[in-house]
Amino acid sequence: MDDSKLIVVDELSKSFGRVLAVDKLSFSVQAGEIFGLLGPNGAGKTTTVRMLGALIGPSSGEAWVNHYQIGRQDQQIRRSVGILTESPGLYDQLSAERNLSFYATIYDVEDVNGQVERYLRLLGLWERRHEAVGTFSKGMRQKLAIARTLLHEPSVLFLDEPTSGLDPQAARMLRGFIADLKSDGRAIIMCTHNLDEADRLCDRIAVIRGNLLALDTPTALRRKLFGRKVVFHLRDVEEGFTKIVENFDFVQSVEVIDHKLVIGLDEPEMHNPALVRALVEGGAEIQFVGELRRRLEDVYLQLVNQAD
Ligand SMILES: Nc1ncnc2c1ncn2[C@@H]1O[C@H](COP(=O)(O)OP(=O)(O)O)[C@@H](O)[C@H]1O
Ligand SMILES: [Mg+2]
Repeated sequence: MDDSKLIVVDELSKSFGRVLAVDKLSFSVQAGEIFGLLGPNGAGKTTTVRMLGALIGPSSGEAWVNHYQIGRQDQQIRRSVGILTESPGLYDQLSAERNLSFYATIYDVEDVNGQVERYLRLLGLWERRHEAVGTFSKGMRQKLAIARTLLHEPSVLFLDEPTSGLDPQAARMLRGFIADLKSDGRAIIMCTHNLDEADRLCDRIAVIRGNLLALDTPTALRRKLFGRKVVFHLRDVEEGFTKIVENFDFVQSVEVIDHKLVIGLDEPEMHNPALVRALVEGGAEIQFVGELRRRLEDVYLQLVNQAD
């Protein structure tokens, strides 16, 4: 097996009674990769994470996490992963420091005090370490919950909706923190409903609804669904301009929107120069040329609606 693949999932399924929550999912995640798991409520994201963290057993299929096989080496898996769940069980009466040292001890962390201090500082909670967690804001609790998942330096991390319900400032801080985590060569699976967040953080994204609807990089998902479009901003769009553009057989579509020509192309890098030349020769005054960027939200909605 490829050593850099820290998570390998092969036709993994899970039923709860008659509900097929996860339906033959297959994918893998490399060291140093953030892998986004997206899908509507009830799509099976949390169930997938719980199976991969060896918290529940699959109904069928196989998976390896940190090269340990789920169902066979669950103890080793639980020790080598960090899981941030939707409702992290922190002890409200205990201080931030005590919460962490309690978990560090359970996880047999060698240098408990050192690790607790390291993560309290990294997440900006050091000054508040003696305060009871019950008095913390949602953002601070979430930071503490993330610190807790990292104390034993797991090489695989599962973050289930890490920024949901946080204010923009706390969410941004956590996103920055998560981005830094991957540089340590961890494999990270992140479930989120925030599509801009997934777009910015994730190297690849799986859209699931029980089964896998799509899996690729955010850029490739956009291109597959919408193709590529180039926008020419012109001082004025004259009638002849669309004709000039349509004469090229590599042009897939042309739309005029205000002062813009929006042109569908497979390979803008190759074909833009010829278009620019022809338009200029035809009298166009080109102000800007750029690529139309679709929002990941459009891609997601298209995928989920197609599956209906
Ligand atoms: N412990 C459980 N018992 C019964 N049904 C469950 C259980 N956990 C999840 N489910 C069902 O499995 C499906 C997937 O749930 P979940 O994995 O929580 O989805 P997501 O995290 O994508 O919102 C849902 O239909 C949910 O009701
Ligand atoms: Mg969930």
